[in-house]
Formats: sequence, C-alpha cells, structure tokens
Amino acid sequence: MDSISVIGGNQLNGTIPISGAKNCALKLMCAALLTQEEMHFENSPNSLRDMDSQTELLEYLGCKISRDKSLMSINAGNIQTYTAPYDIVRKMRGSILVLGPLLARFGEAKVSMPGGCAIGTRPVDLHIKGLEEMGASIILEEGYINATAPKGGLQGTKIIFPKVSVGATENLMMAATLAKGETVLVNSAKEPEIIDLGECLIKMGAKISGLGSETIRIEGVKALSGVRHSVVPDRIEAGTYIIAAGMTGGTLRLQNARVEHLSAPLGLLSQSGIEVEQEGNDIIVHREIGRLQAIDVMTEPYPGFPTDLQAQFMAMLTLAEGAGMVTETIFENRFMHVPELNRMGADITVQGNSAIVRGVGRLHGAEVMATDLRASVALVLAGLVAEGETIINRIYHLERGYEDIVGKLGNVGANIKRVGG
Ligand code: UD1
Repeated sequence: MDSISVIGGNQLNGTIPISGAKNCALKLMCAALLTQEEMHFENSPNSLRDMDSQTELLEYLGCKISRDKSLMSINAGNIQTYTAPYDIVRKMRGSILVLGPLLARFGEAKVSMPGGCAIGTRPVDLHIKGLEEMGASIILEEGYINATAPKGGLQGTKIIFPKVSVGATENLMMAATLAKGETVLVNSAKEPEIIDLGECLIKMGAKISGLGSETIRIEGVKALSGVRHSVVPDRIEAGTYIIAAGMTGGTLRLQNARVEHLSAPLGLLSQSGIEVEQEGNDIIVHREIGRLQAIDVMTEPYPGFPTDLQAQFMAMLTLAEGAGMVTETIFENRFMHVPELNRMGADITVQGNSAIVRGVGRLHGAEVMATDLRASVALVLAGLVAEGETIINRIYHLERGYEDIVGKLGNVGANIKRVGG
C-alpha cells in the first residue's frame, strides 16, 4: 500500500492553486440527476477518489459523464436504474445525496446506507424523515433505503430540522425543486457549498430563496434545465494550506480562495499569530518563523469553526506556546489523530469531546496512519515541522479529498514524496 514520506523543517514559499470544493462538486453531480439535459461543471476537482466514486455511481445509474481537466459534463437523460448499490455507496457518504434527486424526478429510489469516514455513527435519519414528511413512503430493508413518492410526486411542506445537517439540507433542497408546491426548510445549514448548490439549482430553473439563512424556501417546478456552473473554491483545502504555512513559516499565495468563507478560522488563526489577506482572487498567508500562541477552539455549524479543520488546527497547537482546548461538537469520534500526533511527541489529552493540547518544543518524525481524511492531512502538517522523517500510511483517505497534495506541497518547498509499499 502506498505511503507519503515527509521530512520536516522546510519553510513553504510559493503558489498553490486551490481546487473546487469536493463537498460541493459531489452534490452538484447529484443535482445533474434532476434534469434530462446536460450539465457542465467548471472548476471540478480532478483526481479525487470521492469524485471517482460518485462518477462510478452516476454511471451505474445510467449517466453519461465526461471529464476534460477541471470541466465535468454529466448527462442524466437516459437513467437505467434507480438503485444505488452497496458496493459503490459504501465508499463514500456523499452518495446518499442521490436519494432526493432520484425520488423527486422518478418517484422511486433504492439507496444503500452510506459509508465514508469513520468519524462517528453519522445516521441519515434527518434525510429520511424529511422525505417522509414530503409524502414519500420509506422502508429500510437489508441495508437499503427503499423510497417511493406518492402518485402525484413529492409534496412541498414545512420541515423543521431538529439538528443542523449539511447533507439533509442539500438532499431535501434538491428533492423540493421538483415537488408540488412550496417546501420550507427550517434550521437549515448555511455552508458556502450549500449556497453554491442552491445557486446552480436556481440557474437550472429552480425557485429558491433564503440561501445562506436558517430558512430556505423552495417552490417546486415541473422540470429543470441543463446549465454551466463553476464549483466554489475549497475552503477546507485553503484553510489547510494556511495552517501549513503558519506552522512552517514562509509566504504562500493560494490561488482562487476566499477569505469570506473562512471568517471563523481566520479570526482564531490571527489571534494565534497567522495573518492572511485577500489579493484579488487569491489569499496570501505570511508567517515569520517563531512559536504561535495556543488558543481554544470549538467546532460548530457554519459560520462557526468547521469540524473539517479541527484536526489541522490541533496539529498546529501541538507546537504552539501554552495550552489550547479543542472541543468537537459535530462528530463524536473525531479525535483519531490524537494518538498518532502523540506518537510524534505531541502532548494531547482527550476528555470526552474535548482535548487539551499542551504545546511542546518539537515533534519528531514517526510512522503513523489515520482512518479519516482530515486526520490524515493533520499528520502531513505535523510531518512538515517534525524532526526527521514521517511516514503516513493509509493515504487512501487523503486521496479522497486532497487533490495532488504531494505535488502542491512539493512545489512550494516541502520535502515530501509518495512511496510505494
Ligand atoms: C458534511 C461534509 C463533512 C463535514 C460535515 C459537517 C460532505 C460530503 N461532507 O457531512 O465533510 O464534516 O458536513 O460540516 O459534504 N446527523 C444526524 N442525522 C442525519 C444527518 C446528520 O444525526 O440524518 C448528524 C451527524 O451525525 C453529525 C451532524 O448531524 O453529528 C452534522 O452532520 P452533517 O452536517 O449532516 O454532515 P454530512 O452532511 O454528513
């Protein structure tokens, strides 16, 4: 199995292009199921395993998909089956997002319960309950969600989410575009990726208002059209490289990234000693060598601090001056990077959903592995500043969500390479 080798100690200087957001592109691909016309997505992230899994799933359903660098075209004009099988869905949780579009357009869907990162129980009850409230009949059988819409199609209604969920908001927003009458989603998630998905749906002819607020209103229409849409930049990828530069020192230009999508993390990073500025479409991050200040952080739904940057932030705290507390409120099992960081010399103690990170003078390289995407990248960050060589195993997860991380970090001065096992 392949690994990544990092030898720590190099500053990072230069330019890193930021890819389109994986967590948006995966949902836009599902939105293509809502129309029989061809969709074109610019700025799609290339060479990500999650994108490959979603492609495999949509092709299995009968979509014609072509990719030309960062342009992806999808034609769902000839769907063959409404079943999303276990073998494909288990690889990635984002595949549950075919449920709403299939049910809305065809009145029928059979989707395996999803897999993805092992960061908690991650149920899909909110997706199912919302669709039931829209009139769908849903039977859970042998690991599959069997859903059927009522005769005249899904019915618009008011859905109050008991908990903020990115995926449930997206699934129901897509389903509601083709439902009868108005759907009101209360306590919706507000992530930039949801706004981007909503804006694409509006271009396709959907009637949606309230994007980015707690209440999203969708007036169902009869059909949607094919359009061209550019995927919003990946704020988590940008945030990861900002933290990398903060840890190593140096100056990075992150091409095609937006500070306004990173307000909460950038506020904390600035208190810690990492300053960034927007220059046109790019973010510039500059950091002199020297210890950062420890700081407390708590993950929250957007616009709060993203859970997807928690592990990276913790890697940064391992070397900061003083102690910082990291509290994870979104996923109950998202500290899998802690024992691995401790093996590299970090001083982290976990108590329930909080971790105390006491800054240490230095980390040392070790052989490590992680079982989720963001935990894996946190180990790469630690490796960039550790003494000696760090070998990160199980890079499968890293390849799910970081486009060409070895090339991007190598180009700005990191001593990093992929090694065959
Ligand atoms: C998405 C992102 C993921 C990110 C997460 C939170 C994608 C592909 N993934 O995941 O990277 O970490 O948002 O920002 O976009 N929950 C329920 N019932 C449900 C659905 C969710 O209880 O039906 C819970 C989850 O277990 C979790 C919380 O709600 O505790 C938030 O999850 P959610 O926002 O749905 O995350 P995802 O959409 O799975």
